[in-house]
Amino acid sequence: MKLWGGRFESGPSEVFEQFSCSLQFDRKLVFADIQGSQAFAGALARQGILAPEEGETLVNALDEIAREAHDPNYFEGAQDEDVHTFVIRKLKEKTGTLSDKIHTGRSRNEQVSLDIRLYLRASIDTLLEQVAELQQALLDLSRKYPDVVIPGYTHLRRAQAVLWPHYLLAYFEMLARDFERLEQTRARVNTMPLGSGALAGSGFGFDRDQIARDLEFSAITRNSMDVSGDRDFGLDFLYACSMILLHLSRLAEDWILYSSEELNWMTLGDSVTSGSSLMPQKKNPDSLELIRGKSGRVFGALTSLFVTMKGLPMTYNRDMQEDKEPLFDAFQQTSGSLRMAKEVANSVALNPAKPASAAEESWVVATDLAEELSRNGVPFHRAHQIVGKLVLESVRSGKKPSDWNPNSLAAFAPEFTPEMARLLSPREGMKTRELPGGTGPAAVAEALSEAETRLAGERKRVTIR
Ligand code: ARG
Repeated sequence: MKLWGGRFESGPSEVFEQFSCSLQFDRKLVFADIQGSQAFAGALARQGILAPEEGETLVNALDEIAREAHDPNYFEGAQDEDVHTFVIRKLKEKTGTLSDKIHTGRSRNEQVSLDIRLYLRASIDTLLEQVAELQQALLDLSRKYPDVVIPGYTHLRRAQAVLWPHYLLAYFEMLARDFERLEQTRARVNTMPLGSGALAGSGFGFDRDQIARDLEFSAITRNSMDVSGDRDFGLDFLYACSMILLHLSRLAEDWILYSSEELNWMTLGDSVTSGSSLMPQKKNPDSLELIRGKSGRVFGALTSLFVTMKGLPMTYNRDMQEDKEPLFDAFQQTSGSLRMAKEVANSVALNPAKPASAAEESWVVATDLAEELSRNGVPFHRAHQIVGKLVLESVRSGKKPSDWNPNSLAAFAPEFTPEMARLLSPREGMKTRELPGGTGPAAVAEALSEAETRLAGERKRVTIR
């Protein structure tokens, strides 16, 4: 079936028909398309284009199509150009010539915009839930090891000691921003385009606000030309997904390193690791590697739609049909990665002695010592110099911080007072970082409970929808 054809003397070639058909992927939109068509039938009835009972007949037939569409074979052999055409053909099979009225004053250009918005709105709600669940898993993993000390890194070199929960809360913050970004994206997705027609606005005076209410949109779109040419909301979605995957790929990389034989800070559960077909001893972090790998795929989806949209003349162009596969794939991969990350987090067992001794055996306390000197009146640059020399001397003679004591420190530089020697232990230096956002134990405890409160707020916002 075609929704056009009157103007043509002959039909499309087989090559073109195959090339342009989108049904094999846009069938994912079938339920959104049906829901939109039902709301539109209501609008047509309010305009008197459909008699009330005609509207009802169409709505019921669309319900029936929705039920049938759950059958995975429903689309088998269908030759329709796209999902919109498919639904209209099914409607015609059920209601005959009555269905010829369903497309009155409607264009597929606004219909596809509506369908994608409905699809993305539901997808975003799933992702919001999943982001919150992963945040919860990180909080659980923090509570499990509340006072484990690890070296924090810059340049992948041991930098300063931090608490394990402080490290995990960094990811909690990234995910909190991801949550916000999804909410902001949802707000832009959640505007109702029907009534825009092909590009100029419909020739029928639909009550657009009523359609928006029927479909639970929070507002109507403001410009019909904008609607036909707009996929910004899709790009917003892909950016939000990309940021999630960016964060997950860094978490994955951290934990691949932390669980390696070289570091051995943590053990990943058997349930999220795989073996080797040749090397019997292997236990590989494939789940994390796949998360890291899928990030490339999701960034690719963002780039793909960006480039598709760039330079398109106003308004709709068929290029835009290429929006769907990146959107669908990005959702699937993002959702799958969030789910996987949560399961990995729940499987982690920390070996606290390993990171603790990594912190103790290195000079992560150097900054603590320099800062203590400057608190005691030594100008910071001078303090930095003194501790730098202490580290140099230690490196030369193979000394760890714990090999020094009050006497040897004072002998090394008179600026060191006896009580400063306590800062040779990483745990002591952390106590000086008790300001908000720092790794001081009290600050971290406070941050943890604040994070829990914030997560409860996120959860509430998800369920209110
Ligand atoms: N399948 C089309 C798409 O996804 C629907 C819109 C078709 N509009 C048109 N003027 N050919 O973009």
